[in-house]
Amino acid sequence: MSRKIGYGAIIIIFGATGDLTKRKLIPALYNLYVKEIINDKIPIVCVARRLITKDKFTELLNPEKFIAQVNQKSLSQFLKQVYYYPMDLQNNMTYSHFAEFISRVDRTHDCRGGSF
Ligand SMILES: NC(=O)c1ccc[n+]([C@@H]2O[C@H](COP(=O)([O-])OP(=O)(O)OC[C@H]3O[C@@H](n4cnc5c(N)ncnc54)[C@H](OP(=O)(O)O)[C@@H]3O)[C@@H](O)[C@H]2O)c1
Repeated sequence: MSRKIGYGAIIIIFGATGDLTKRKLIPALYNLYVKEIINDKIPIVCVARRLITKDKFTELLNPEKFIAQVNQKSLSQFLKQVYYYPMDLQNNMTYSHFAEFISRVDRTHDCRGGSF
């Protein structure tokens, strides 16, 4: 039986500028990507309050430091499906914009409505 997940999910990480994300979650997801258990039909949307760009967010993740045996080519491919979305979860006004953003990511990656 194949262990690959073909499509159908956006992974959303709340608190993505935090310690858990850079030390554990992104390295674990990168390893799943390298093993082809997840692919580009399973994008990762990272959410935190900080108003920073995707480039700054990637710097903050510092994947070269936290991923053991990183391969630059596969890392840069993996990072193409990682998005950063600045949002304060306590601000109800931002949720409808976030839903629109998720829909755009869904269409871009052909996720067919799945998220977790
Ligand atoms: N670190 C670990 O190894 C570890 C292990 C097991 C369990 N945990 C648990 O996992 C959780 C996260 O841990 P952590 O170490 O990553 O915490 P952390 O370093 O303090 O990070 C907290 C994250 O939450 C975000 N955040 C806080 N308030 C927010 C809000 N109102 N709206 C949007 N984002 C908000 C922060 O974003 P900004 O600062 O950018 O706003 C930051 O990204 C905790 O419950 C912890 O107990 C952590």
